[in-house]
Amino acid sequence: MKIKKVQVDKTIAFVKHQLKNAEGGHDWFHIERVYKNALLIAQNEDVDTFVVQLGALLHDIADSKFHNGDETIGPKIAREFLVTIKVNMEVIDHVIHIIQNISFGGGNEVQKFKSPELDVVQDADRLDALGAIGIARTFNYGGFKNRALYDPKVPPTLNMSKEAYKASNAPTLNHFYEKLLLLKDKMNTKTGREIALERHAFMTQFLEQFHDEWNGRK
Ligand code: ADP
Ligand code: NI
Repeated sequence: MKIKKVQVDKTIAFVKHQLKNAEGGHDWFHIERVYKNALLIAQNEDVDTFVVQLGALLHDIADSKFHNGDETIGPKIAREFLVTIKVNMEVIDHVIHIIQNISFGGGNEVQKFKSPELDVVQDADRLDALGAIGIARTFNYGGFKNRALYDPKVPPTLNMSKEAYKASNAPTLNHFYEKLLLLKDKMNTKTGREIALERHAFMTQFLEQFHDEWNGRK
């Protein structure tokens, strides 16, 4: 037990350091929120808490979005780190599977790996894409990419392939329709779904008001 606590603390220090200069929506504070939500959700699930902790902490260690689309860097960095702190191989393999399979990727990908621990971390990550924080993160990312807030002439594209989703340069508001509003129906756990519904309702209200203000109503 004590060894695991030391390993989790070392992982926290490593992740904080790695994400020092990260974009505001994918920084240490995102990881911290996901970590806390994952532990909250895990209370009602039959899971290995240690795997959930390491998966949550390392899930965005080198997001492909910020590494020219390369999806192998994150798993590689995570594996090398976990080996240096002597985590057992079975746990390492599970954590790497979580990192490789957590992403939405347009919503049409077949998820190649499933486990209750991935379900928990994925729900926790999805919750941070919803609600007030979800809205803030989304516009921060759009600003980071120098995208328009909204353009009525560019409608959202539903059911995008992973490639199209990743290549999209559409205005930020489209992301709500292309991903964020779809998440509530993709939640894996009861706890996750309940929190997602509340956050979804808040986003819907935000979008209504956004369109009203855009169109000069109110
Ligand atoms: P996934 O790869 O599973 O879609 P991401 O890490 O890309 O997950 O998404 C995390 C968050 O980053 C989103 O919830 C959103 O806030 C922001 N984000 C990602 N892609 C976009 C985008 N195209 N426009 C605006 N925000 C985005
Ligand atoms: Ni994340």
